Amino acid sequence: MDKLVIEGGKPLSGTIVIQGAKNAALPILAASMLVEGIVTIDHVPKLLDIDVMLNILRELGCRAEHEDETVTLDTTSLHSSHIPEALMRQMRSSIFLMGPLLARFGEVTIYQPGGCAIGERKIDLHLSGLRALGAQIDEEDSRIVCYAKRLKGADIHLDLPSVGATENIMMAAVLAEGLTTISNAAREPEIQDLQHFLNSMGAKIVGAGTDTITIEGVEKLKPSRYQVIPDRIVTGTVMVAAAATRGQVTLLNTCPSHLSSLIHVLRRTGVQITVDGDIIKVGTASRPKAVDRIVTSPYPAFPTDLQSQVMVLLALADGVSVMKETIFEGRFKHVDELSRMGADIRVDLNSAYVRGVSRLYGATVEATDLRAGAALVIAGLAAQGKTVVEQVHHIDRGYDRIEHMLGRLGARITRYSPVPNNQIVQ
Ligand code: UD1
Repeated sequence: MDKLVIEGGKPLSGTIVIQGAKNAALPILAASMLVEGIVTIDHVPKLLDIDVMLNILRELGCRAEHEDETVTLDTTSLHSSHIPEALMRQMRSSIFLMGPLLARFGEVTIYQPGGCAIGERKIDLHLSGLRALGAQIDEEDSRIVCYAKRLKGADIHLDLPSVGATENIMMAAVLAEGLTTISNAAREPEIQDLQHFLNSMGAKIVGAGTDTITIEGVEKLKPSRYQVIPDRIVTGTVMVAAAATRGQVTLLNTCPSHLSSLIHVLRRTGVQITVDGDIIKVGTASRPKAVDRIVTSPYPAFPTDLQSQVMVLLALADGVSVMKETIFEGRFKHVDELSRMGADIRVDLNSAYVRGVSRLYGATVEATDLRAGAALVIAGLAAQGKTVVEQVHHIDRGYDRIEHMLGRLGARITRYSPVPNNQIVQ
């Protein structure tokens, strides 16, 4: 397993271009299976999760290439709607293929993606949404088989504004007969991006970005070329890293309006942020101030995917901060690791009480999941001395070579990969 070695204590400085959004690209790649022909998607980051999705698509008979940041898919020979269990288990986002394959083939077989490090992550809303569209769904152990000659539009109310369920239902409803309305829909920017992509192929969807989405079913879609939005979580991660190291960073290719809640929190800590079009500048030279209460909630509130990174900044702040996690039950795994670096954090149920310390110290720590891993990298950059972050494959799921990205900002960060004869290469 790869590890990152970080020599901390150096403020980040410079300019960086932000990668395309993983969480927009994954459903868009899945949605491409709705159409027959060649679909081109630009600004797709080179990530482990994207590789897994492309491998699943190839297994189903799609031709897929990923050169530079452009993915070209030829779905003409797509022949299967059975996602093998081993591939299904590699990535939870394989669930996104359910709606599109059901709509295109009238049947799909998948397997329970299972829980993951951050929580149980049920799929009941995905299944009840597809049932409401007329799918017959048989569950046998971990296997889930869905059939529908042609899906029929319906009014669907989500008990929770689930991002994935909203996207799956949208993709299934695009080719359904009649009108579908999703109420209490999730409002994340990635859902708007999916709407724009589907509409570029001839779908008729309005309302993404609000809590009510309306989809008028069409008979057929036509292939298109599309560019995904910038990754708001990577943007946020770099912004927090700049603040935690007391540096000055300029971020290009961002969508500042997608980060209003983070910008608000960072300004409360005393960090200076200026926004100009798609450019964000972050800078500070002083110790951050504590923030009394941050609660993670569905968009546009503070994102769960930035909770662990911001906790690092608060761990270095002057005063006591409280962070409450309301989305996933297992999302405080970074706390033990940060404590090993000198942080003073106490967890009680779903709240973390963070008493800021003046300094973190380098240590050997383990990335337990994607965003927890990103938080440990930030902690390593801000800490005094050497930090080793293990289990880097979690970080590779969402950040395109994080050591290159941060290295461009002056970070002293090196990846070490074991090779078969037990040597270590850089
Ligand atoms: C997406 C993001 C993930 C982010 C999360 C919340 C992608 C690929 N991933 O995940 O990075 O952290 O949104 O912003 O876009 N739930 C149910 N039943 C369901 C579905 C969800 O109870 O059928 C619950 C989940 O357990 C969780 C909450 O709803 O507690 C939110 O999950 P959801 O919005 O679905 O997250 P994902 O789409 O999995």
